[in-house]
Amino acid sequence: MTTDALPTQVKLLPATPQLKGLMTIIRCKDTPRADFIFYADRIIRLLVEEGLNHLPVIDKVVQTPTGTDYQGIDFEGRICGVSIMRAGESMEQGLRDCCRSVRIGKILIQRDEETHKPKLFYAKLPKDIESRYVLLLDPMLATGGSAMQAVQVLLENNVQEDRITFLNLIASPEGMNAFVKRYPKIKIVCAEIDDTLDKNKYIVPGVGDFGCRYFGTD
Ligand code: URA
Repeated sequence: MTTDALPTQVKLLPATPQLKGLMTIIRCKDTPRADFIFYADRIIRLLVEEGLNHLPVIDKVVQTPTGTDYQGIDFEGRICGVSIMRAGESMEQGLRDCCRSVRIGKILIQRDEETHKPKLFYAKLPKDIESRYVLLLDPMLATGGSAMQAVQVLLENNVQEDRITFLNLIASPEGMNAFVKRYPKIKIVCAEIDDTLDKNKYIVPGVGDFGCRYFGTD
C-alpha cells in the first residue's frame, strides 16, 4: 500500500517534522520507558484531535460578550471510546484529555493457542453504545485480526459501521489492506504506515511490543 494511493477512509496524519521527531523517539530501541510514554502520548493526542475532526457537526450560533453572533458548530452526536486491551488502554487518557468524562468500553482479544485465530475473551461496552459514535483505540494494526474482531463485537452490539473511527499509531500495509477491504465505511486515523510484518507478525520497522514498552512489562 503506497501512501499516495490510500482509500479516502484512511486519514493519515500529515508527515510534519513534529510527528516525524516524535516517531523517531518512540521507534528508537534505546528510548527509556518514561520518554516512550511521554512521546507516545503526544502522538496519541494528535490522533485523538484528528479523529474528532471527522465526527459530524451541526451549525450553532452563539453570542459573544461583544453582543455579536458567532457562526459556530457543535458536535451532532455523543461519542464513546472502546480500547482493545492491553495496548489500546494506553490511548484512553489521551481521549479523556480531549473529551471530559467520556465513556470508555474495553475489549480483550487474544490469539487462541489451538486455532491461532484471534478470540474474544472479554467485552464491556457502554449500554447505549448503538446511539454513539465510537472511537476504537489500538496503537498497532499488525495483521488486523484483533481490530477486525473488535469491530465485529461493535457491530453485534448494533453500532453502525459508519459511526466507528479507528485511531491507530502504526499500521502494517497487510493489516491496513485487510481492514479497509472488510470495513469500507470505517474511518481509520493513522500516524504512519510501515513496511511490512516480520515472521512473528511484528510490524517493521515498528516499535517492538508497544504494550510492553508503554506499561513496562516483558
Ligand atoms: N503489537 C505490537 O505491540 N507490536 C507490533 O509490532 C505488532 C503488534
